[in-house]
Amino acid sequence: MHVIVTGGASGIGRASAVRLARRMKVTIADRDLDGARSVVDEIKSAGGEAQAIIVDVAHRTSVFEMVAQATATFGPPAALFANAGINRRNPVDLISEADWDVMMDVHVKGMFLCAQAVIPHMLSLGHGTIVNTASDFAIMGVAGNATYTAAKTSVYSLTKAMAVEFTPKNIRVNAIGPGPIDTPLLATGRTAEQHVALRAKFAAALPLGRMGTPEDVAVVVDFLLSDKASYISGQLLHPNGGQLLW
Ligand SMILES: NC(=O)c1ccc[n+]([C@@H]2O[C@H](COP(=O)([O-])OP(=O)(O)OC[C@H]3O[C@@H](n4cnc5c(N)ncnc54)[C@H](O)[C@@H]3O)[C@@H](O)[C@H]2O)c1
Repeated sequence: MHVIVTGGASGIGRASAVRLARRMKVTIADRDLDGARSVVDEIKSAGGEAQAIIVDVAHRTSVFEMVAQATATFGPPAALFANAGINRRNPVDLISEADWDVMMDVHVKGMFLCAQAVIPHMLSLGHGTIVNTASDFAIMGVAGNATYTAAKTSVYSLTKAMAVEFTPKNIRVNAIGPGPIDTPLLATGRTAEQHVALRAKFAAALPLGRMGTPEDVAVVVDFLLSDKASYISGQLLHPNGGQLLW
């Protein structure tokens, strides 16, 4: 079985690719080709099969070329983890049009394009499973992060729409809504001091008393993409340390 993992060069995608490689051939699709290649090396040294392909998920041609190339080597993908993401933080009155557009393009359009490119292969196989990375922020209001929350709510909505359309065709579509996970994304746009303070704040505030690791999320992705989740579609599952308990 072949799975495509976008954003697989780092963080949640990387940990998920490594875990999924225990039972699948993995295409690591990322704009960071060197990072993707380093994950391929890690998987191969553990005895798995993987390939790295460069992609910009915000562009249709790039996504369709990536899926064609991935399929030529590993066969039609039966699974997709659409996960590539970025962040641009600002209060609403200071968000630029360019930042708004790139957030929507990478998250919402990117996950839509990846699904559109793999679904024909899944239909030809007669089965498939997709997990999109949303966020806890998909269902929260968060100051200073409106582009991200709007994009992630849209990812959740897209997930539900695709689940209604394709579950009857034996393609399950789910989303994950991670809480604060210790990855490079959390450091972007912050000073080292701000990053350290934020990690301490999260650890203290979360009911489980610690930030999540990429591996905490990879377990959930692996589950949702597996037959163990065969009766689950259209859901948003939260590996979040209990963040939404109040
Ligand atoms: N870290 C968190 O706390 C957290 C919480 C909830 C949701 N998420 C989501 O999880 C996903 C993974 O984030 P992460 O924390 O592992 O971050 P990360 O920065 O470690 O990894 C993101 C990966 O996506 C790739 N990428 C970015 N834009 C791309 C593009 N246009 N085309 C192809 N690849 C691209 C990057 O190169 C990188 O390898 C994102 O969608 C993010 O929004 C993260």
